[in-house]
Amino acid sequence: MAILKIARMGHPILKRVADPVVDPTSLEIHKLINDMVDTLADIGGAGLAAPQVHVPLRVVIFHVPGSRLAAEDQIEGQPPAGVPLTALINPVITPLSDEMEEGVEACLSVPGLAGTVPRYNHIGYRAMAPNGTVIEREARGFHARVVQHECDHLDGVLYPMRMRDMTSLGFVEELRRFEDKEAED
Ligand code: NI
Repeated sequence: MAILKIARMGHPILKRVADPVVDPTSLEIHKLINDMVDTLADIGGAGLAAPQVHVPLRVVIFHVPGSRLAAEDQIEGQPPAGVPLTALINPVITPLSDEMEEGVEACLSVPGLAGTVPRYNHIGYRAMAPNGTVIEREARGFHARVVQHECDHLDGVLYPMRMRDMTSLGFVEELRRFEDKEAED
């Protein structure tokens, strides 16, 4: 087990296009994913991309808690299960609708800040799993947002680069403070 150091905005590794993985089943990739899982568990968060731990390869991990899963993705009559921790290797995203949705995002590589980012609300994604099988899924809402955020890291894109309204960018502590005040008024 290893907890890896997170690269922060300004580090060149976050600006480059990551390389495709040649063999998703290799020991090297399994070790990388295990270390990424340990790192995400330690620091907390919804997802992590390999460039964020200084590895320029097309690998991301993420999970979606049941409470954040879009209503359309839940199974009626069952408690929301969420999306378990998933590793995507060489992922490809296809928007399934033009509809965009604004939502608040934060990033381990941009610590302390959060901002409102437009994302496709409904996507399909396809990737290799570490066991060599193909993962093919549809996602909406927060699930779709997390996958788009993490895959952006593979192309050197950080969420502030996607923002339309920079006035929504702020320190989480301050945003929470004034959000609470607004709720009280
Ligand atoms: Ni991020």
